[in-house]
Amino acid sequence: MASTEASGAPPVAEQKIEAAEQKIDPYNVSGGVDEAGNAKAIDYNRLIELFGVQPLTDAHLKRFEQVTGKPAHRLMRRGLFFSHRDFDKILDAYERDGTFMLYTGRGPSSGSMHLGHTVPFLFTKELQEIFDVPLVIMLTDDEKYLYTRNKNGGVQKKGQTAEDFLEFAHENAKDIIALGFDPNKTFIYTDYEFNGGHFYRNASEFESLLTFNQAEGAFGFTGSTNVGLIAYGAKQCVAAFPSSYPELFGYKDYRYPELDPAGKRRHKDLSKIMTLIPCAIDQEPYFRMLRDRCERMTDPHPKTALILSKFLTALQGPGGKMSASDANSAIFMSDTPSQIKNKINRHAFSGGRETLEEQRALGGNPDVDVAYTYLSYFLEDDAELDDLAAKYRSGEMLTGEMKQRCIAELQKFVAAFQERRSKVDLDAMREFMRPKKLEYVGNPSPKKPVPAAPAAQAGEGESAPREDGKLTKGERKAAKVAAAKAEKLALREKKEAEQAAEKEKKAEEAA
Ligand code: TRP
Repeated sequence: MASTEASGAPPVAEQKIEAAEQKIDPYNVSGGVDEAGNAKAIDYNRLIELFGVQPLTDAHLKRFEQVTGKPAHRLMRRGLFFSHRDFDKILDAYERDGTFMLYTGRGPSSGSMHLGHTVPFLFTKELQEIFDVPLVIMLTDDEKYLYTRNKNGGVQKKGQTAEDFLEFAHENAKDIIALGFDPNKTFIYTDYEFNGGHFYRNASEFESLLTFNQAEGAFGFTGSTNVGLIAYGAKQCVAAFPSSYPELFGYKDYRYPELDPAGKRRHKDLSKIMTLIPCAIDQEPYFRMLRDRCERMTDPHPKTALILSKFLTALQGPGGKMSASDANSAIFMSDTPSQIKNKINRHAFSGGRETLEEQRALGGNPDVDVAYTYLSYFLEDDAELDDLAAKYRSGEMLTGEMKQRCIAELQKFVAAFQERRSKVDLDAMREFMRPKKLEYVGNPSPKKPVPAAPAAQAGEGESAPREDGKLTKGERKAAKVAAAKAEKLALREKKEAEQAAEKEKKAEEAA
């Protein structure tokens, strides 16, 4: 316990170790510190247990391949996307209904994105191409504004107004577009610009299902957290509901100045469409909160499915993630070829041996080698990747050579990105940010297709809304049933929460 003593802290060894536990939530990502004060790698198996998510298994990959007729994405095969909730149900929905919605997002904390930020988007893009489904991308300028101001003790610093974060969101949108999304199938929005209409009604209803105590429990808020940040989570949650974006599905919203009566009510048909969220596992606490409330909405939604990734390792090694605020930890999408080369050569943690002789005789460890790790995310060719690992292990390949291979691959990826990015102008961005009916086919032969746009199914499924916007008889009945169900669920949840609190109290007393 040398480190404890050195800091002059009393010898409460157990607590000290606990304090250095890994901490993963939307606002913290750290692998923790061991007893000697060294940064530890994030323990993802522990996280699976702690969060209660499911591991993504070979059986899932097989089923994915069988349902889509395509090989599982390399990031799934190589375990970067490693866990899920109800991923099976998404595959079921695709087989049965023919479609689902993809939803992901980004907090625009600065105008530039790094390599780690591109990972969930690249993965999402390929899922979208494989399934041919609609995708929404939420840029949370509001979240980042509120979070930053909160972090600064309520002070609004220069360059950190709401407008500054909106501007970051626009820059990030262009970066995301440059990854190659299709504007006919993809809607990108910032909260400051889009939130209103049916989205805001869903948000308001969701806020009514969330108490301060619950938000505090999920995110560690305190009495001095600004109320904007406390309420923000509801927005990130309802962004997963297709009913928050009626126009993308050919339904009417109800916004000034149109005020079209066909959009007066949120559209119940849209609440039947399932959603899959690909994201890094730090976002899971939001979506646990979401899943607990999906079925309590006036129009209940099926529980949102998740596919969760690990973090892209920092250049310094597996203890942390690439961070925009630490320039030496990250490769930025705006870096020049020589910056990429220098960062990898100087900062990338090596799994190799101290000396050339030792490396030749004993071989290195690709599993902790950062250059190899990056290749495992960005190199498509399985055979080459296996070959690199084998040669590194045997000592045939040296650290410098592995770095060189990595540098070449990343330079190629970043240069191609920058070439596309230079062509994304304001008009291109507008095309993605305009709410319009998206064009997608989904599964060409579903078992029981979901109704498409209202025009295509007049008279069936959702009954035509009344001109005065009031509920039809059928809708009133359905609302009553839904309300009764929601009340029952709420009661059950309350009871469960009380039981959990009771249990905790007993455990504390026993300790
Ligand atoms: N809170 C996320 C961030 O800070 C942004 C976000 C919003 C998001 N919705 C999402 C991320 C859905 C993943 C999936 O980056």
